[in-house]
Amino acid sequence: MDMMKAVILDKPTKGEDVVLSEIAVPEVKPGWVLVRVKAFGMNHSEAILREFEIENDYIQKPIVPGIECVGEIEDPSDSGWKKGQKIAALMGGMGRSFNGSYAEYALLPVHHVFPIESALSWEEMAAIPETYFTAWGSLFQCLRLTKEDKLLVRGATCALGYVAVQLAKALGCTVVGTTHRESKMEFLKEAGCDECILDDGSLRGKVSGVTKALELIGIKTVKDTMMCVEQGGIVCNTGVLGKVYEWNHFDPIKDIPNGVCLTGFYSNYPTTKMMQDIFSFMDEHQLKSLIGATYDFENIREACIALDEGKVNGKIVVKVGD
Ligand SMILES: NC(=O)c1ccc[n+]([C@@H]2O[C@H](COP(=O)([O-])OP(=O)(O)OC[C@H]3O[C@@H](n4cnc5c(N)ncnc54)[C@H](OP(=O)(O)O)[C@@H]3O)[C@@H](O)[C@H]2O)c1
Repeated sequence: MDMMKAVILDKPTKGEDVVLSEIAVPEVKPGWVLVRVKAFGMNHSEAILREFEIENDYIQKPIVPGIECVGEIEDPSDSGWKKGQKIAALMGGMGRSFNGSYAEYALLPVHHVFPIESALSWEEMAAIPETYFTAWGSLFQCLRLTKEDKLLVRGATCALGYVAVQLAKALGCTVVGTTHRESKMEFLKEAGCDECILDDGSLRGKVSGVTKALELIGIKTVKDTMMCVEQGGIVCNTGVLGKVYEWNHFDPIKDIPNGVCLTGFYSNYPTTKMMQDIFSFMDEHQLKSLIGATYDFENIREACIALDEGKVNGKIVVKVGD
């Protein structure tokens, strides 16, 4: 196994130009483990990497993209784990400052690799690491969600939005979801939303009693979202679907309404406990991981096109090998 199939990028690349190449299997080193990738979930941030982020100096080039995967330890190095141990891995620079998961093997730092005990299939497991961790951290660490809350998920039709709705409904919350497409209102109802709102950029006067809000459109709409929560409420800015990445001329005194708290979540810091809590919560509430579509690794080009075009309703999962 000297060579492996991988996607390798060195410049902005459209989904339709993504190809599989043959590159050397990485050599293991202390503090890092070699993982045999079984499946990986795809993320909006990987579309951003291919579209323009790759031009930044902090991106290693060439780079194998992919910020998460599930698989088995192929070479445990000095980790103490055994060959064959099931793991999930995510973030920490994966697919940005070191090669990521769009490959048959990935060399990953031990501190961002998490042993997982799970009876789920590789495909089901692959939908979990980044999306469920981000939803979990946003809802529980940042929004301190309890079953008494009425949660607004703004931009609920992304993979992360559907998962946030699923987790909040399992907890017992009332959930309001928004979409900018009338055709997706039905999906939000099916996902469990108690109320669905067609978002034209202003939600003021269209929703009441919201105590917590998960902002997935981002800076483009977060001011409006803050105007829609009750005093004492919390807004967590987690997404950037609106494609505005920096908040220029932010004035906290005038921009944050009195008595409303604004926070943000960054999925760069997963912990073993949080990952275990997610799997336990899903077991306890008998939740199935949400998958929008599955592709074989050979069809990674089609998967990237689907990601770029926002064609799939929910998480895209790619199976690697048999
Ligand atoms: N803070 C963090 O650490 C963190 C971690 C993970 C993800 N995120 C962010 O969370 C967001 C969701 O991520 P994801 O991977 O779940 O995304 P994704 O599934 O790839 O989401 C893409 C989908 O979002 C929908 N969408 C809803 N409102 C939109 C809008 N106003 N503009 C454009 N698309 C919109 C689009 O479908 P329709 O247009 O058909 O509705 C599109 O299909 C992204 O912005 C991502 O960067 C942040």
